[in-house]
Amino acid sequence: MVEVNQLKEEISKRSRIIDRAISELLPQKEPDGLYKATRHLLKAGGKRLRPVMSLIVAEALGEDYEKILPAAVAIETIHNFTLIHDDIMDRDEMRRGVKTVHVLWGEPTAILAGDTLFAEAFYLLTFCDVESENLVKASRMLADVCVKICEGQFLDMSFEKREMVSEEEYIEMVTKKTSVLIAASCAIPAVLFGEKEEIVNALWDFGINCGIGFQIHDDVLDLVGKDKTGKDWGSDLIEGKKTLIAIKAFRDGNIPKIFGKRRASPEEIEEAVRMLKEKGAIDYASSKAEEFVEKGKKRLEVLPDSEAKKLLIGIADYLIKREY
Ligand code: IPE
Ligand code: IPE
Ligand code: MG
Ligand code: MG
Ligand code: MG
Repeated sequence: MVEVNQLKEEISKRSRIIDRAISELLPQKEPDGLYKATRHLLKAGGKRLRPVMSLIVAEALGEDYEKILPAAVAIETIHNFTLIHDDIMDRDEMRRGVKTVHVLWGEPTAILAGDTLFAEAFYLLTFCDVESENLVKASRMLADVCVKICEGQFLDMSFEKREMVSEEEYIEMVTKKTSVLIAASCAIPAVLFGEKEEIVNALWDFGINCGIGFQIHDDVLDLVGKDKTGKDWGSDLIEGKKTLIAIKAFRDGNIPKIFGKRRASPEEIEEAVRMLKEKGAIDYASSKAEEFVEKGKKRLEVLPDSEAKKLLIGIADYLIKREY
């Protein structure tokens, strides 16, 4: 077991490597207005969990992470592209403690900023120092993941308009919108280093299951993470998102008054959160998140024991314990 402070230190050591690579590989350019919008969220920070996981996977495979650093940055770049577009779709105003791109620059520029990052990611990926045959495989995997993210985001929005969504449908939606990119963060380093299918698949499944836990916990934080997440509080509630918490509450007949109402006062959000807590909907979701992470961790059995493997297990637990 990795002690929590040590885990945080190991994550932050690697996130500094990612930050340096981002400033080097994704500089400010002309036209200034476009690139200010494009770099805004990247500069605001974020946890960098996905690229950090990529570096740790490289270490767990006994490889030099420097060779795949452009791929790690590419994955964070894709993540930032999805965040900019997601904030337009979710009508959110705050992210990473700063105003969202569309609030500052308007929706047309925010769409372009996202598109720019999307293309830059694939450009960066080609600079990995690995065999070109493996680069082709990794590009294919990342492109397929981007298609899945769009499918998941579409399902997320279409579920808002639906009365009922099953747990299976929720899992399919979050697998596509969130887990596949976390799975790619873990599997792409293995693909790039030409690992055999058994290893690639195990890392993919680890990421999928941990990613589901991660998104369930993100949904929990939307309710209980006021002033901690750097994002709009209660956004999922007022937008009418079919989170696992909402699905459970609906099933038990506990529908918050403000659900899907597009606006609510802090007092009303507070009241809804209190009710969801009391009725056990939040605990229900958290225990599901834990089940997925436990399932994910089992898939790491194929990797030889190492400090890096311990870190991956530590991160898996952290994904559903984090406060922001
Ligand atoms: C937020 O991801 C988007 C989701 C898929 C829930 P993170 O919580 O990893 O966001 P940052 O990168 O740390 O800001
Ligand atoms: C985001 O899910 C998934 C993607 C960005 C693809 P959310 O909409 O829950 O993410 P946050 O809470 O805005 O970060
Ligand atoms: Mg959102
Ligand atoms: Mg969303
Ligand atoms: Mg969320």
